[in-house]
Amino acid sequence: METEKNVTKRVPGKTGFKNEMKIEFDAVSENEAFARVAVAAFVAPLNPTVEEISDIKTAVSEAVTNAIIHGYDAEEKTDSEADANKVYIHCLLLGDVLQVEVVDEGKGIENIEQAMEPLFTTKPDMDRSGMGFAFMEAFMDELEVISEPSMGTTVLMSKKLGTLPWIDHEE
Ligand SMILES: Nc1ncnc2c1ncn2[C@@H]1O[C@H](COP(=O)(O)OP(=O)(O)OP(=O)(O)O)[C@@H](O)[C@H]1O
Ligand SMILES: [Mg+2]
Repeated sequence: METEKNVTKRVPGKTGFKNEMKIEFDAVSENEAFARVAVAAFVAPLNPTVEEISDIKTAVSEAVTNAIIHGYDAEEKTDSEADANKVYIHCLLLGDVLQVEVVDEGKGIENIEQAMEPLFTTKPDMDRSGMGFAFMEAFMDELEVISEPSMGTTVLMSKKLGTLPWIDHEE
């Protein structure tokens, strides 16, 4: 016979579930791969699909790459100059919604609207295609960019993840 259990569990993906994670790392391109894997690992308990994981990794990778190469112009700096340059990622899971914030304290963006246009880039010489923001917009449900010259840049993204029902019935 089934017994009634009155236990509140923190079930990933369910309403009321909350989980939070923050990381800080040096603004060097080696850390871009680490950052996207860290965020992917953080959402793993929600049983995301391969496509969802891939979308999240792409979006995080674009935002972190932008922080490193545009925010801090890391390609033009020596290792010691780059030492103080940090990128911050703040992830929040609320129910089945992932929020990701990627923050740098670099040079900031003068014209956000223009920067977000597909194909717009300020580094055409460095093999940039100007598609980073377009990818973030396409692969996430929401994208917001907050920036001011010399004040750094914050990229806020969110995505709703599908959840598998079996978790609900776990004993
Ligand atoms: N964190 C940031 N700090 C300063 N400027 C930024 C930042 N992120 C983006 N930008 C500006 O916005 C422009 C557009 O960014 P986007 O990612 O769309 O293209 P890109 O980085 O130039 O090229 P791609 O991402 O295709 O390699 C950049 O060229 C840069 O001028
Ligand atoms: Mg980019």
